[in-house]
Amino acid sequence: MANPNTRTQLTKAFTFVNLKGIPGPRNWAFYQYTKFFQKDILGAFTQVHHDYGDIGSFPWPMNSVIIYSPEMIKRVLVDQNKKYIKGEQIEELRAIVGNGLATNNDHSSWVRNRSIVSKEFNSRAIQLTMHEIHSIIVEKIKSWMSYSEEAVEICEEMKHLTFVIACQIFLGKRFSEAEAKKVNEAVHFTSIVTYERIFQLFPLPYWLPIKKNIVFNNHFDFLNNLVMGLIKEEKDKGIKANPKSILERLVHAVDDETKTKLTDDELRDEVLTMMLAGHETSAHSLAWTLGLLAKHPEIQERLRNEILTLSNDQLSLENILGLTLLQNVLKESMRLYPAFPVLSRKAKEDDTLGPYHIPKETNVVIPIYVLQRSEKFFKDPLVFNPDRFHDSSIEKNYTFMPFSRGPRRCVAEQFAIVEMSMVIIEILKNFRLELKSLELPKEIASVSLKPRDDFYLNLIKR
Ligand code: HEM
Repeated sequence: MANPNTRTQLTKAFTFVNLKGIPGPRNWAFYQYTKFFQKDILGAFTQVHHDYGDIGSFPWPMNSVIIYSPEMIKRVLVDQNKKYIKGEQIEELRAIVGNGLATNNDHSSWVRNRSIVSKEFNSRAIQLTMHEIHSIIVEKIKSWMSYSEEAVEICEEMKHLTFVIACQIFLGKRFSEAEAKKVNEAVHFTSIVTYERIFQLFPLPYWLPIKKNIVFNNHFDFLNNLVMGLIKEEKDKGIKANPKSILERLVHAVDDETKTKLTDDELRDEVLTMMLAGHETSAHSLAWTLGLLAKHPEIQERLRNEILTLSNDQLSLENILGLTLLQNVLKESMRLYPAFPVLSRKAKEDDTLGPYHIPKETNVVIPIYVLQRSEKFFKDPLVFNPDRFHDSSIEKNYTFMPFSRGPRRCVAEQFAIVEMSMVIIEILKNFRLELKSLELPKEIASVSLKPRDDFYLNLIKR
C-alpha cells in the first residue's frame, strides 16, 4: 500500500489564508483563472505575471501566492528558507517516495539525510561513476548505428538511456529487458498518478478499491519489494572494498554528525526519490537540448568542434566541465525548458514579501519557466543563444535556476550536468542532428516539462 499522505483533504478544505491585501483575480476573474490553470498551467502562470507583475494571490481553496520578483524568490529559497517547507503539491509525491529528500519537511532529519546523500554526488563520487556511464552511452550509440532508419523518437530514447544509467549507478542493477520494462512502468505510472492528483481538489484516498488505486498500489508494492530486496542483499554481503552503486554505499554510510545510519525505510525512500527525480528530468532536458542543437546547425557545428578538442582518454569531470560552449548550451536549453517549471513552498510561519504580509500556511509558487522566459529579465528571451551565458551575472540573479537555489537545491546538479554532457559528447561525435519536422514540439508541464507530441530527430551518421 502507498505511503500515507500527510495532507488530508479535510485539512486542505478547512484551511483559510487571508490574502486580502495582495493583488490577484477575485470573483468571476478568479473562477476564469482556475479554469485556465487546469487547461494550460504554463500559459496561466505567464498571464498572472502579465496581469499582476511581481506577485499574484489566489485565495481559498488555493491559498496561494505566485511570485515573480527575484528579491522575493531569494527571500523564500535562501534568506528566510527556514520559514518555509516544501509546497503542498509535493505532498502527493510522498505516496511513493515517503520522506525522501525531496519531500522531507522535518528539518533535522533532512539535514542528516542530505549530508549522507550529498556525499554520493560530490566531484570524487561522480568521477567514479563516469566510466560506467560512458560504457552505457557507447552501447546505446552502437544500437543507433545499427538502425536502418535515421529518425528516432528522442524522448523515448533518452528516457531509456537515463533509466539504464539510473538503475546501474543508483541501484547497481542491470535489469533484463522484461524486468526493466516492469520497473520503468511502475515508476512511470506511480509518478503520473501523483502528478494528476496535484490538480484534483479532493483526490480519493489510495485505500479505496477503484481500478487506478489497485494498479497504483500493485506498482508501489513491486517497487517497495524490489528496493527492500536490494537493501537486504547489500546488508547480507557486508561492507565491500569498492562499493559500486550508490545504494551499496548508502547502506553502510554513517552520518558524520550523529554517527547514525539510514534505516531501511529511509534508504528505500531515498533510493525511490533518486529513481523518480533522477531519470526523466535528465532525459527530457537532454531531448530538448538535442532538439535545439538540431534546429541550430551552426551552434551544433561549433559545439562539435569544441568537443573534438577532447580525446576519449581526456573525458574527466574537470575537462567536461571546462567545455564552455557545451556547458552554456545546457544552461540555455534548461533556461528555455526547465525540467521542473514550477517550484513550490509553504509558509510554516508568518513572513513578509516586499510590502505584503504572507500568513502562515500560504503556498508560495515560483514559476521559474515564466521568469526564465521573461523579457523583463532576458534580452530576446525566446531566442536560443548559449553565448548569453558569457555574462556570468545571469547565474547569480534569481531569474535563472533550473536546479533551484538555496539549501533545497538539486542534490545531484553536478551529476546531472556530467551525465548530460557525456551523452551529448558521444552523440555529436557520431551523428549530425536534424529536426524531422520544421519546429520543436510545444512543451507541456507534466512530472517534468516534456514535449506535447512525438519528438523525432534524424541521427545522421558522421
Ligand atoms: C536535468 C536534471 C535535473 C534537474 C533539472 C533537476 C532539478 C531539480 C530541482 C529544481 C530541485 C529542487 C526543487 C525545489 O527547490 O523544490 C531538485 C531537487 C532534487 N533533485 Fe534534482 N534535478 C535533476 C536531476 C536529478 C538527478 C539525476 C537526481 C538523482 C539523484 C536528482 C535528485 C534530486 C533530489 C534528491 C532533490 C531533493 C533535494 C532536497 O530537497 O534536498 N535530481 N532537482
